[in-house]
Amino acid sequence: MIHRDIQQVLYSEEELRQRVKELGCQITADYAGKNPMLISVLRGSYIFMADLTRSINLDVTVDFMVVSSYGAGTVSSGQVEIKKDLSDTIEGRDLIVVEDILDSGNTLYYLMDVLKARKPASIRLCTLMDKPERRTKPITADYVGFTIPDAFIVGYGLDYDEKYRNLPYVGVLKQSVYEK
Ligand code: IMP
Ligand code: MG
Repeated sequence: MIHRDIQQVLYSEEELRQRVKELGCQITADYAGKNPMLISVLRGSYIFMADLTRSINLDVTVDFMVVSSYGAGTVSSGQVEIKKDLSDTIEGRDLIVVEDILDSGNTLYYLMDVLKARKPASIRLCTLMDKPERRTKPITADYVGFTIPDAFIVGYGLDYDEKYRNLPYVGVLKQSVYEK
């Protein structure tokens, strides 16, 4: 039973659907006449990516990357490692990096630099969730779904110890789950 570990539902399925649609419309308008390449940072962004791309009315391509994250903890280690690189080249492309959540900013700060060095035409960051209070690196997203306070959240792709990704909503995890 995954639902009983949730203290509070932050965003319902309907709220997520509505906001992702708005982001898709905004990207469609901003990239009119272009063919952006959406790069999903796995695994947390897989559901957001699937919904976001279906809300964009342009020719887009998709690619995926895996970078190391928190492991079983709830605090970023500051160590970032590319575990799976992109399949395609990005030189000259208009990139939109799609992330589940921007927290300390460690992961993205590093990743954006790696991608910029490959000479894309442009690069923007789209994150479903933003926790600006926790930022330790100077990085901001160009598209933000929701700005949230400092709480550990799960669902809609976001995990704790690889669990809860399949919750259809976003919720705050009960502290008792990770303090066990
Ligand atoms: P950052 O490097 O600290 O910005 O962390 C980014 C990554 O940490 C995200 O892509 C998530 O995978 C993970 N993360 C940060 N906060 C949360 C959270 O509240 N719930 C689940 N995962 C999180
Ligand atoms: Mg992630």
